[in-house]
Amino acid sequence: MCGIIGISSNKPVSTIILNSLKKLEYRGYDSAGLATIHKGFINEIKCEGRVNNLEKNVLTSKSDGLIGIGHVRWATHGAANTINAHPHSSEKVSVVHNGIIENVTILKKHLINNGHKFKSQTDTEVIVHLITEYLKTNNIKNTITKVLNKLHGSFALGIIFTDHPDLLVGARRGSPLAVGYGPNENYLGSDSYALKSMTNKITYLDDGDFCILRKDKVDFYNSEGVIINKKILELSKEDIDINKGDFKHFMAKEIAEQPNTINACIKEYINKLNNELSIFNFPWKKEDFNKIILIGCGTAYHACVIAKYWFEKLTNLEVDVDIASEFRYRNNRFRKDNLYVFVSQSGETADTHAALDLCNKNKMKTCAIVNVVESSIARDAQFVLPIHCGQEIGVASTKAFLGQMLVLYLITLKISKIRNEINDLQYANKICQLKELPELILKTLKTETKISSLSETFSNAKGSMFLGRGHSYPVALEGALKLKELSYIHAEGYPAGEMKHGPLALIEEGMPVVVIAPRDDHYEKTMSNMQEVIARGAKVLLITNKSSDEIKFDNLWEKIEVETSSIDLMPFLLTIPLQNLAYYSALTLGHDIDKPRNLAKSVTVE
Ligand code: G6P
Repeated sequence: MCGIIGISSNKPVSTIILNSLKKLEYRGYDSAGLATIHKGFINEIKCEGRVNNLEKNVLTSKSDGLIGIGHVRWATHGAANTINAHPHSSEKVSVVHNGIIENVTILKKHLINNGHKFKSQTDTEVIVHLITEYLKTNNIKNTITKVLNKLHGSFALGIIFTDHPDLLVGARRGSPLAVGYGPNENYLGSDSYALKSMTNKITYLDDGDFCILRKDKVDFYNSEGVIINKKILELSKEDIDINKGDFKHFMAKEIAEQPNTINACIKEYINKLNNELSIFNFPWKKEDFNKIILIGCGTAYHACVIAKYWFEKLTNLEVDVDIASEFRYRNNRFRKDNLYVFVSQSGETADTHAALDLCNKNKMKTCAIVNVVESSIARDAQFVLPIHCGQEIGVASTKAFLGQMLVLYLITLKISKIRNEINDLQYANKICQLKELPELILKTLKTETKISSLSETFSNAKGSMFLGRGHSYPVALEGALKLKELSYIHAEGYPAGEMKHGPLALIEEGMPVVVIAPRDDHYEKTMSNMQEVIARGAKVLLITNKSSDEIKFDNLWEKIEVETSSIDLMPFLLTIPLQNLAYYSALTLGHDIDKPRNLAKSVTVE
């Protein structure tokens, strides 16, 4: 994780860095810092915690420079305090780093033996000392080439030099890095979001590349230090709406936006005139694949698990789902008729990207479902399907989850169609049902008032369980994850039918349990499992859908009814009250909803 920024300009840069860091804060908020070069010296300002804490010191600082770097940190090596906050500097060099240096111990030992003294516990500081050392006998380009070749692990780096106050070095391996071009100034940034308010002209560095950036010129080099040409891309100019509007938190706004984001995505993929799916250029034919493997992390992984049920229902494909961090280190069977689908909101998650890399290296067919279309995963996959839900700021994913499910459902239909496993009528019906989804989500959002009144029970509890069967089981996993992320209270998602094999022992008087049970084929069985937890004292909140035959249950604590869609689409609606349950529980507890402790939105480390 962590976010980095760098600017070389003809005007003072501290405030521009500060504003960019605010945009990058979703990548880490353990500490923030910046450094500029002023009158031949490095001027470092850093603090523990948020960018807001940094702001006062920056605004009152008398030394500003025309070149600078900035950082927001998600701690890996060393505690989240001011000493470990980036930038890290010697007299000659200052560095910001996103990533992890894996051979830090050996490098540090060697440097200490050569008289170098370390101030922090970070891995980054070895880079500062290595550069300082190599600069004694090398020019900038050779120094960087040699130092980068010494580093194992992942990095995106921004580096400034007192002896060369006109230039800034950017380098990447593993972690993302973009260069932006402005009027009389140029920029480095962890992503294009951080740069978009300044420029829409972007170059992405590839793995192993570095650049030497001046206010009027940027030179790119490969890992051998040979100059290379890079393309400048023009990103769409649309202004990113990063205001909370009338909402208290981005998460609340993002939950409320879901009818619109789902509608926007449907419009992108369903042709209004002929009700056809417009997934153009789908590069594979029916005979090209017999197995699909869905891979993601966190919430994206849950969307993949839901999609497994859809694929198994609507196609004859063999389907696997995998957590990226597990997949990348297993002995996988790479068969030529496998299709790998990578799901990631940010498109930068290190494990998902590494899993994609592994598949690409094994010449597999790779498809990415992402929100950030300029991301590394989007660039490296052979086929990309964006979820079109706009920037998601809340660290706990909400609207992107629905977007990921939607695109996974669309691709299920598309594949089912090209394999002739769905007939025209079924296909047309499913498309019509999808078009009703935004309205049903809108109506289901009305459950917010009731769920907010129930949330206190969850925030006062020691722990809770979320149960479901069929595709409501991954919905339960996602409900539990949301509550954990935001309330910091233990919550466990479990298949309802598995409770009797252990977790039933956790149930005690008054423990809140959410049972997710739409009126589908699993309903009766789930109701039996629900009775088993009620009988053991659980306070059960049943989340089901509206139905004409009201069933009353003795000793049920509460019931929330969402709207009714086709069975396939119920996960979209069942998720809504779970998002609000997590939101309101955290609100009651006074937690930082958009930036839960210890987490970050874009996880660019293993
Ligand atoms: C982090 C976020 C989660 C997200 C996961 C995967 O843990 O906090 O909300 O689901 O990363 O992120 P991705 O960008 O790959 O979907």
